[in-house]
Amino acid sequence: MCGIVGAVDRRDVTSLLTEGLRRLEYRGYDSCGIAVLQQGALRRVRSVARVANLAAEVAAANLSGMIGIAHTRWATHGAPVAKNAHPIFSSGEIAIVHNGIIENHESLREELQAHGYVFESDTDTEVVAHLIHRMWTEQAAQGAKDLLCAVRHALERLHGAYAIAVFARNDPGRVIGARAGSPLVVGLGEQGNYLASDVMALAGAVENFIYLEEGDIAELTLDGVRLVDRSGHAVQRDIKVHRASTHSVELGPYRHYMHKEIFEQPNVIADAIERVDTISADLFGQGARHAFREIDSVLIVACGTSYYAGMTAKYWLESLAKVATQVEVASEYRYRSSVANPNTLVVVVSQSGETADTLAALKHAQTQGHRHTLTVCNVASSTMMRQAEFQHLTSAGPEIGVASTKAFTTQLVALFLLALTLSKQRGRLPAAQEATFLDQLHRLPGKLNSVLALEAQIIAWAETFARTDHALFLGRGLHYPIALEGALKLKEISYVHAEAYPAGELKHGPLALVTSQMPVVAVAPNDALLDKLKSNLQEVRARSGQLYVFADADSRIASGDGLHVIRMPEHYGSLSPILHVVPLQLLAYHTACARGTDVDKPRNLAKSVTVE
Ligand code: AGP
Repeated sequence: MCGIVGAVDRRDVTSLLTEGLRRLEYRGYDSCGIAVLQQGALRRVRSVARVANLAAEVAAANLSGMIGIAHTRWATHGAPVAKNAHPIFSSGEIAIVHNGIIENHESLREELQAHGYVFESDTDTEVVAHLIHRMWTEQAAQGAKDLLCAVRHALERLHGAYAIAVFARNDPGRVIGARAGSPLVVGLGEQGNYLASDVMALAGAVENFIYLEEGDIAELTLDGVRLVDRSGHAVQRDIKVHRASTHSVELGPYRHYMHKEIFEQPNVIADAIERVDTISADLFGQGARHAFREIDSVLIVACGTSYYAGMTAKYWLESLAKVATQVEVASEYRYRSSVANPNTLVVVVSQSGETADTLAALKHAQTQGHRHTLTVCNVASSTMMRQAEFQHLTSAGPEIGVASTKAFTTQLVALFLLALTLSKQRGRLPAAQEATFLDQLHRLPGKLNSVLALEAQIIAWAETFARTDHALFLGRGLHYPIALEGALKLKEISYVHAEAYPAGELKHGPLALVTSQMPVVAVAPNDALLDKLKSNLQEVRARSGQLYVFADADSRIASGDGLHVIRMPEHYGSLSPILHVVPLQLLAYHTACARGTDVDKPRNLAKSVTVE
């Protein structure tokens, strides 16, 4: 989603800003821009093309300056056209970039228009620019100009979420940053000080960071950084060292990050379980041992792929630990009037740890009276990790492709460990069973490699899927969420319309869609529901549907007329979903490649959805 970079430096900042935007591209955007203070004037370049084009335009326009701000925009208010791209200016005096949504922008717009401000964009951000300008000129009239103070008073008028970076034409040595609801970090360097919405933007440039807290406002100059809270009182925040591995954001021999990330799964899962030699609540942080004993149920809240990880975990938690589990989409839960049980463990699952709906759901659960909360997340420094009582880092490493792959399988590993932990605490995990599960976990990377070896067969299927406009995915039980995830992957990167159903539901409606033109993908592990699934597949064949089945080696399903089978390894028990999702990731990936879509940055989508 939107990205921010800002800088005060002893050198020209344009290349640092454009490189920062390049590093934020993975979040998804539809326009970008950069503004600097050059020879006493605000200058900017904005583009609806890629950051690479913006960099070329910046060079062509001879843009340079020692302070500046830059932005990648994912449109919310106002179409993705140049006039709505950030930085947004007010009266040639104030420049601002903004992530988030200002909910009361309409009333503020009317108020500012009444004061003579003329709006040039359709964005909610422009009201913030004009508000700051208004405060700034009011201060000037009283002979007391303080940009931080002007920003702080403007922010008092806003309802909604924001991370902003601001500078003023008349205040050449200062950039102001502020956050409420959207992340923002300060990078501390030897040549200057910087702002970014994500540490990744400053990877390689600085290693010392301050993670701003809710309501914090930062003033960056060459001499240092001053922090105040929303009331203007000075605050201190810890400096954290973050040595970003530039290696992990390089593509290497792969064409796309998604492909690279699919193939990283054996290694990242091996890393995630390397030190797990016994099942213990300590895997979830200090104090979890005691708190987990108190809980009598689990509520998992998440969005998108992370929600499907939660759905899979429900099966594990209820079958292995016998702990009643509910799973809810975060954007629904946060606005639903629910009955809080203080003995419920609320688990939020998120790759980024910044998804606005999931973060709001976590806060909502806490205000509703849920005492125990756990974040399962891939970003150690994220807001969700800081907000919850307990934490578990999934250790997948940076995931750049918008379509989540390795984050999903590592979430599944983490949630499986949670189910085993609760099971052990409740005396339901005999030592021999624990040893068997641990052994299966440690052999999982090898099994994943054998699934990845099926790629050539999947590429052949992808040729067919690239020519279709619709597909159905079927699964049962523990593999129904995997069918949902397969359909989501296909939709989001190849734009093929795909729906997933529990196979037993087919006859209650979706069977009407089945014709000889409809590919139907079935996830067919050799589990207790296999015979039921086979009957469901017969229902499809009887209507001439084309079946594409991922069948365990021991599931006795053979290819035949209209029945295409790719043979998976032998059934892998409770961990089978982690194997079965991988061919679906590859099918979506190769279908998207065959259709020539922008695999890593699919249209309309963002990596981290930091607005509602
Ligand atoms: C997955 O492929 C999607 N891009 C999306 O559904 C994602 O899982 C969702 O937005 C949640 O993100 P999070 O895990 O960072 O919270």
